[in-house]
Amino acid sequence: MTARRIDGAALSVRIRDEVAQRAAALIAGGTTPGLAVVLVGDNPASQVYVRNKVAACEKAGLHSVMEQYPASLTEAELLTRIQALNNDPAIHGILVQLPLPAHMDAHKVIETIAADKDVDGFHVSNAGLLMTGQPLFRPCTPYGVMKMLEAEGVVTRGAEAVIVGASNIVGKPMAMLLLAAGATITICNSKTRDLAAQTRRADILVVATGKPGMITGDMIKPGATVIDVGINRGADGKLCGDVDYASAAEVAGAITPVPGGVGPMTIAMLLVNTIEAAERAAI
Ligand code: GUN
Repeated sequence: MTARRIDGAALSVRIRDEVAQRAAALIAGGTTPGLAVVLVGDNPASQVYVRNKVAACEKAGLHSVMEQYPASLTEAELLTRIQALNNDPAIHGILVQLPLPAHMDAHKVIETIAADKDVDGFHVSNAGLLMTGQPLFRPCTPYGVMKMLEAEGVVTRGAEAVIVGASNIVGKPMAMLLLAAGATITICNSKTRDLAAQTRRADILVVATGKPGMITGDMIKPGATVIDVGINRGADGKLCGDVDYASAAEVAGAITPVPGGVGPMTIAMLLVNTIEAAERAAI
């Protein structure tokens, strides 16, 4: 069997087109949707992600402000900047790119972002709303995964969903969204005793570990839907995921490629969250 390739790039274009239409309607009504993207330090991967986010905003007609600071910025200075953005009516969404330099408390920084501008959905109040079934902002990567499953017609109700990786950014919110969609959830972490025994039970397997190629075809249930959240740089310098695509595609029913799978969807959902924030502010 060769798995169907789930084209996140194509789906993201459709979603971004819808966002552009909603942005045009808002602008016609006098509100220009605005996103502030804050980057501290010189992490090269973060620089690329942030540039892509800002470019996607501009293309969809959103106003974006990129604030880049050296790693020497103090936490207090960053909090002051975030408070200014919280109070800026031209800004509807605020994103502080993670990871932050080690001298900063990422929790404190995220909790300083106004919850109604937290387009990443990382603020404890947004995490709590998601957990209790009344989400305001869904974290962009798991939200994008749900959109891909929906577009592919993957049945989540009653499905066995196994998530490898338990981060606040992907694994935990992914579990909440799949649970809300009726799936039975298993979250695996680095201490899971027999990982393959878990992953082989999955009708839907979501992998977000940052370990290149760690999931191989023999760990996948025949016909499963495999979502690879990893974006790694392989030894050959090429981008690769957490799933070994070649062996996995022999077994899976459908699989996301890297690049061109989850990555573009994360950006598309950031735009969706930003436009929703602007629409709420414009009411
Ligand atoms: N670092 C890795 N992924 C993300 C993300 O989705 N948002 C932010 N702010 N930082 C990240």
